[in-house]
Amino acid sequence: MRVARRLESFEYAIREIKAVASELERKGKRIYNFSIGDPPAYGFTTPEHIKAAIKKAISEDYNFYIDSLGDPELRELVAKKESQKAKSTFTSDDVLITSGVSEGIFFADAALVEPNDEILIPGPSYPPFSSYVKFFGGRPVEYALDSSQEWQPDPDEIRKLITNRTRAIVIISPNNPTGAMYSKKNLQAIINIAGEHDIPVISDEIYEKFVYEGSFISTASLSKDVPVIIFCGFSKTYRMTGLRLGYIAYHDQEGKLEEMKEAIKKMARIRLCANAPAQKGAIAALTGPQDHIDKMISELLVRRDYCCDLLEDIPQIQCHKSKGAFYLFPKIKYQGRWKNDKEFALDLLNKTGVLVVYGSGFGEHGKDHFRMVFLPPMDEIKAGLERLSSFFKQGK
Ligand SMILES: Cc1ncc(COP(=O)(O)O)c(C=O)c1O
Repeated sequence: MRVARRLESFEYAIREIKAVASELERKGKRIYNFSIGDPPAYGFTTPEHIKAAIKKAISEDYNFYIDSLGDPELRELVAKKESQKAKSTFTSDDVLITSGVSEGIFFADAALVEPNDEILIPGPSYPPFSSYVKFFGGRPVEYALDSSQEWQPDPDEIRKLITNRTRAIVIISPNNPTGAMYSKKNLQAIINIAGEHDIPVISDEIYEKFVYEGSFISTASLSKDVPVIIFCGFSKTYRMTGLRLGYIAYHDQEGKLEEMKEAIKKMARIRLCANAPAQKGAIAALTGPQDHIDKMISELLVRRDYCCDLLEDIPQIQCHKSKGAFYLFPKIKYQGRWKNDKEFALDLLNKTGVLVVYGSGFGEHGKDHFRMVFLPPMDEIKAGLERLSSFFKQGK
């Protein structure tokens, strides 16, 4: 049967290479999985008070279609949270609860992108940012994150890439896949450029709490009148990946996004609502104890340093210490052994069972790199990295 052409542009390297690994696993190969940014899958399970609130919601039959825009109490809490982050005022009308940030990206692109419109995205970038733009007939245009400048963007390049078809500039900070944090100067410069062209900034802040050096900078806190569409959620900080919950928050001091907000509300109504019991869990997440976050960050810091030090000892690898998120994005020197990063990642997987994601899966600017998560427990990290380093030592 015929499949609509728009799906031809869909690619998701993270899941695609995982499918190869699953096949090997089915045949009995031991896999060392460093591929997925999924805290609960690596033992950082959902905190008990959140699970208890979800269980309570289910047992009290909070299992119906709730408000399409989200549980009113949760929207209030998110508005309060974002107001504190940005030192600005958000009301619950500025908040839409979504089935993860993923759905937020889909909604925003649906509202912004006409055929041939352009969205500026970081390169390398989390893949759905380009896939959804293409899905709606638009063109994702990558601005480079420069590995020699700790993966910072270059505002001059961004300015040059703007055309009369540019509809928004995307910021992901802390960044997936590079682990970079945009400097305050660069964030401010990007906001100014968006302001000059009367377009919004989209700021993906899902890794807001995963900061190892310096502190998180809220994009909206730097913007007076430039609209900022914030994507954030519960997957990473509250370890709720499978529960599928996130939100869009609009920082829009001059009401420039009113039409867009209404259009997105309509889309939200079509899909009825986000997971209702999970929203009760999110209320518990925002109002309950937060100590699991600091504990997780200090554990991840040890894992980051261990991984990075070991990778740096491998002559064919160059690794920057991530400042945020939970990814390393090292560069590979092929030395004639592989043609490209995909061939490298598949060879590594087939020979050692170590599963990483090839850098070009994050766009053209990701080539010659690979992405590795440092979420696995230390013994798994040690076992996986031992294999990775002898794989490099062995040669062909
Ligand atoms: C930058 C970024 N945005 C969004 C997501 C997806 O988040 P969610 O689980 O809320 O859909 C991810 C997941 O890895 C991500 O890295």
